[in-house]
Amino acid sequence: MAKKDAKINLLDHSEAKVGLYGRYLSIFLNILSRSPINTIHLFDLFCGEGVFEDGGKGSPIVALETIRNHFFNNNKTCPNINIVFNDTGFSEIEPTKLKTDRVKENASKIFKPKNVNVGYVNIDYSVLIEKVINRTDKLRSNERALVFIDPWGYKEIDPNDIKKLLSNGKTEVILFLPIYFMARFVEKSRDDEFKGGKAIRKFIELLFGSIDNYPKSKSQKEFIYKIQEQFKVFLNLKYVDTFKIERESNNWFCLFFFTNNKKGFQKMIEAKWLIDKKHGTEFKIGEDLKMDLFDEIEVSNYTEKVSSFLKNNLAATNIDLMNFGLENNFLPPHTKKVLDEIKLNHGIDIISLDGLPARSYYLGDEKRLVNIKIR
Ligand SMILES: C[S@@+](CC[C@H](N)C(=O)[O-])C[C@H]1O[C@@H](n2cnc3c(N)ncnc32)[C@H](O)[C@@H]1O
Repeated sequence: MAKKDAKINLLDHSEAKVGLYGRYLSIFLNILSRSPINTIHLFDLFCGEGVFEDGGKGSPIVALETIRNHFFNNNKTCPNINIVFNDTGFSEIEPTKLKTDRVKENASKIFKPKNVNVGYVNIDYSVLIEKVINRTDKLRSNERALVFIDPWGYKEIDPNDIKKLLSNGKTEVILFLPIYFMARFVEKSRDDEFKGGKAIRKFIELLFGSIDNYPKSKSQKEFIYKIQEQFKVFLNLKYVDTFKIERESNNWFCLFFFTNNKKGFQKMIEAKWLIDKKHGTEFKIGEDLKMDLFDEIEVSNYTEKVSSFLKNNLAATNIDLMNFGLENNFLPPHTKKVLDEIKLNHGIDIISLDGLPARSYYLGDEKRLVNIKIR
């Protein structure tokens, strides 16, 4: 069977991508609509076709449907939302039309609450990103923004722009990166004579300071982990999460989520693991999912991290461990698994405030405080 063209059809990996984006937006709206925030700005900077030839829905349609569903599930209410859909391209399906015109046509068929405004623009990303940074820098205390960056490649993506977007503490960013194309040449790009490595070298230099600071990765998954951890350092941000998506065999893409909001971050990690209880961190097409929680713990060296956290913090509480888990992209049940292993190998004491031994780690329980101590 002929391969489907990703530019006119919504392939499985893109469906997984926009599905996760929709889920994130839904969580974002649920949290913010129960807070003093009254206005949300949504920027989709590479919005695409809207609806594909095979009927698949792209990010703008997914966003509008998510907003509509939020409205009807919340007594016909939602925060004020200002949306910008941007794309400079002409449609691959109807070549005489701009992609944003197709989005506009399809958007008009979706119910939109009165306090939701949509604008369509056709500005090159490199110009628009500056405008978005300027706009989000002016957000008031009761406003928040979500920026979705979904390019075809990664050449335009400058980690400094992500830093500028996040620096106001009121903006969240979702970035989609083609890992396979990046990881493929990263080692060769250490040689600055190698022409095919220019773009990846530039990206790594911006993120790590120098190509020499980039530690070699054994796999694309390790590459993703290193990029994620370096983003945390570069942005001075605790909450960076990823979701890996495989297009064909060993051709990985990845969604990166950046936020300052602990609650939103936790809800997103929970949603991610709910997609598939065992394989919550990735979407793999057409064959058995191979990576599970234990691989994830291994790639990130999580057991050693928890172990040294406990050794360096003898007064660590269940709340400290829960937060530590979250900052390392794990939920309480995952940390519990690791603690059980450490308990078996070293021994662990759990002590209540009254000094008596407690029976459980109480990792998700913010009302009860216990000290968790490695022996
Ligand atoms: C991966 S697609 C976006 C897919 C879309 N988010 C969806 O869910 O269907 C990337 C889009 O970026 C647009 N594009 C490419 N270079 C651009 C640039 N420099 N500025 C703005 N848009 C650009 C292309 O026309 C294309 O539609």
